[in-house]
Amino acid sequence: MEEKIKSLEDDLDKELFSFEKDKNEVKSLHELELLENKYLGKKSFISQTLKNINDFPQHMKPLIGKTVNETRKNIENDIKLIKDNFIKLEYDKKLREEKFDLTLPGRCLEHGSKNIISQVIEEIQDIFVGLGYEIAEGPEVETDYYNFEALNHPPDHPARSLHDTFFISDNILLRTHTSPVQIRYMEKHKPPVYIIAPGKVYRKDYDITHTPMFTQIEGLAVDNNINFGNLKWTLETFAHSIFGKDRTVRFRPHYFPFTEPSAEVDVSCNICKGNGCRVCSGTGWLEILGAGMVDPNLYKFVDYDPEAVNGFAFGMGIERIAMLKYGIDDLRIFFENDIRFLKQF
Ligand code: PHE
Repeated sequence: MEEKIKSLEDDLDKELFSFEKDKNEVKSLHELELLENKYLGKKSFISQTLKNINDFPQHMKPLIGKTVNETRKNIENDIKLIKDNFIKLEYDKKLREEKFDLTLPGRCLEHGSKNIISQVIEEIQDIFVGLGYEIAEGPEVETDYYNFEALNHPPDHPARSLHDTFFISDNILLRTHTSPVQIRYMEKHKPPVYIIAPGKVYRKDYDITHTPMFTQIEGLAVDNNINFGNLKWTLETFAHSIFGKDRTVRFRPHYFPFTEPSAEVDVSCNICKGNGCRVCSGTGWLEILGAGMVDPNLYKFVDYDPEAVNGFAFGMGIERIAMLKYGIDDLRIFFENDIRFLKQF
């Protein structure tokens, strides 16, 4: 029996010796796991010996258990030391590699900005709100009544055909202008009325100065003592605010079914200062809007007394104002959503 113990001790020494040799070869946590498995795993010499301890006589078991367990402890301790060392090395490596330069400029979040059309609408609104106007709105899908009839276009009126209307049914259409808001607002409010109404309008048209959808702002002032001079002052004040004080404004006689008299309004060309150039087609003037005194016929549709009130109205294309303000020469670019274009504003 003494011999059996002796040979076990020899085997354990060999095992330890072999472990000492192997452990120096370990280069990673993974290799360490393999090493642990080899010396302490289920099939290792140590585990097998402990498992078969019953092969020894009872009185020897404590000594054998103690001897084998000592070797196991040694191996375990060594493995733990190596493991800790690996973890520390890895941590140091991470610290070294992942250090970052606090002096580098940060990566900025890109901020969106308001679309140029919204910006121009807001600028125009601000001007008129400053003059005491309120903001009104109306639907884009309209009835024939509000888009035409109550605006003094009887059913066979020739001006209807000028509008290139998108019809949804005989009576329902996409509004061709913001003027229907005049009628809708007057139906619901007694004079005095001072409103501006921005919104989208639709016409069957497409070239460098026309798109099937564009944006208008309507203006309407109805009170008991309004004259053409008030209209001129208002639009001149507006033009000076949006384009600058050096611009002059002129009124040309025109025709709209819902205003009488009517005018088209031009501002002097800022490129040639009124001398004539390519942008203004040699005229020195750029058209910006349509306007006129509200035709008294409209008041009958909204239950106003045509003898007691009078007023003026005007309507302008926002894209056109933006084009003139920023020197843009193609209307379609507003709707292409090219980020390089939009970012400039
Ligand atoms: N609604 C007209 C248009 O779209 C513009 C306008 C509005 C003219 C108000 C006179 C008065 O062309």
